[in-house]
Order: sequence, then C-alpha cells, then structure tokens
Amino acid sequence: MIVTTAQLFKHAYGKYAVGAYNINNAEQAMGLFKGCIQSKAPFIIQISKGARKYTDKRMLEAIIRAAGEIFPEAIFAVHLDHGDEQTCYECIDSGFFSSVMIDASHESFTENVAISKRVVDKAHAKGLSVEAELGMLGGVEEDIKVEDGHATLTNPAEAQDFIKKTGCDSLACAIGTSHGAFKFKGKQSLHFDVLTKIKALVPGFPLVMHGSSSVPKDEVDRINAAGGTIAGSMGVDPKEYLPAAKLGVTKVNIDTDGRLVWTRVHREYFRDKPSDFDFRPPGKIFIDEYAKFIASRNDYLGSSGQLDDLRKSLGQ
Ligand code: G3H
Ligand code: 13P
Ligand code: ZN
Repeated sequence: MIVTTAQLFKHAYGKYAVGAYNINNAEQAMGLFKGCIQSKAPFIIQISKGARKYTDKRMLEAIIRAAGEIFPEAIFAVHLDHGDEQTCYECIDSGFFSSVMIDASHESFTENVAISKRVVDKAHAKGLSVEAELGMLGGVEEDIKVEDGHATLTNPAEAQDFIKKTGCDSLACAIGTSHGAFKFKGKQSLHFDVLTKIKALVPGFPLVMHGSSSVPKDEVDRINAAGGTIAGSMGVDPKEYLPAAKLGVTKVNIDTDGRLVWTRVHREYFRDKPSDFDFRPPGKIFIDEYAKFIASRNDYLGSSGQLDDLRKSLGQ
C-alpha cells in the first residue's frame, strides 16, 4: 500500500527512523520489498534523477506498482531523491509520488528559500509533501560534486527560519555525513550537538539524514578480495541511527550500501564461476542478500516490527 511520507513520519517521529532506500531496477525492488516484509518494517522507496534515466521512468513506476501487488502487506511511500525544480514538477504532476525532495542546498540561503517555496506551493496544492535541504553534504550528489572541506553543517537558527519561510514538510540536515563510500577519515561520529539544537528549535519537525550508508568493512573486504579496489572507505556507524531518530531524524537515506551488496555478490559469483554467463543465478543471490541487508538496517533504525501498529494507526 502506497501511503504519504507524512503518514509514515507521524507514526515514526521520535521513536524510530524510516529507511529510505534508492532503487534502480527490478532486482533491487524485489530485495527491498522482501527485506521489509521479513522485518515487518514500513519504508520509503527513493528514485533519483539518475534512476529515472537509467532505463525509463515508466519502467521504474511499473516495477514498483508490481512489487506492491506481489507484496500486498507492504506499506511504503515513493519519493523523488535530490530533485531539481523541473524534475520536482514532473513528479508532482505524475500522480505516482508521495513526496519530492527539492535540493537547492548549493544555492544561497535566499535562493534556496525561493526555489523550495515554489516547489512546496505546487506540491501542497496536489497533496504531496516536500523535503528540502539546508547545509551542504560532501561527496557527489547527482551532477554536483562538493569538494572535501567545502561541506557545511546545517546552522540550527537558519534551519528554523528556512522551515518557517518555505513551509517544507521535512528538512535534510548536514550533520557530518557525505554521499558515497568515503565518508570519514578515521573514527568519526554524527554531529549530535547540531541535531540537539535543531530539535530544540523545531520540536516535532521531521529531519532527514542523507549519506547514511554504513559501508560495512566485511563487505568491502570481500569486494576487494574478489578483484575490487575500494580502499580507505568508511561509513556511518549504524548504531548511531536510533540515537539520531530520538533527536528527530525520521528518514535515513541508504543507497551506497545496496550497491556494495550488488558488487560483492556479482564479483564473487563470476570469480568462482568464470565460465558462467547467465546473469539470473547471481541476480537471485543478490535479491536474497539485499533482502537480508535491508532487514538488518531496519533493525538498527528501529523500524523493524512497526508494520502492524502502523497499519492499525492508519485504520487498515
Ligand atoms: O544521493 C545520491 C543517491 O545516492 C543517488 O545516486 O544519483 O547515482 O542515483 P544516483
Ligand atoms: P549514501 O551514499 O550514504 O548511501 O547516501 C544515500 C543518499 O543520501 C541518497 O539521497
Ligand atoms: Zn542524498
């Protein structure tokens, strides 16, 4: 059942975070739905601009609709990840999305407010909610690369002002993470100090953490042992998801980790079976391994086991 992101946030706020997982193809969709049903967790499917272009945006929509029929117990929202203004309008008009993200975080504060407010007005008129972003994460976001040292943490007072001026429904905050597999150098933690200040200024307002992949060491080691060269990677400690959720982080974005599962499965499969060329056996392994991974993330997020209570609260 497709619900609004607002419905998911209302149930989760302050108790647990909803996992927001990016998908690009049918195998990821199958693994995601399986993992969320196994762990009895609600979830958010995220579609990036790149995902919409990978095959065809209609293909992804059809895959998601089909998965919803194959897994009728699933409760999920469909969200545009890192949209520009034009893509937000396309998704708002498509009638398929529960929410969109307008990412104008690379613009000045004033310009970010103006763009985000235009999207909020259009989205609210059609009953969709809007995630906006303030502060700048390091790493690569679609076409925009933020160089090391140029990332900026979200300023709590500005966040309060931004939310008031734009009317956005949730806010992606920069709290020390970045996109991709190389987030930290050495041991580092989330900026709980920033989160605490934001929560004090906007209690009850859903916050979003991007760049939340944990980049598991054993996964990376297996990839490298099977011919990969991903050296020096590091992610977020998943044990920090739940403490962040208690401070208002209601949506946790995970993409890179899923790519690592895919890479590990396929590298190992073809290393061990060099004469094979049927992609379905590793595809099947990937679906099950991704499902296992998703269930484990939902456990860390605290969303595992919430499905029945959510269903009741939705009057289903
Ligand atoms: O934040 C970016 C997401 O990981 C999506 O990545 O634009 O390569 O699909 P993508
Ligand atoms: P990761 O690169 O850490 O998976 O972050 C994904 C993300 O923030 C998608 O918007
Ligand atoms: Zn992101």
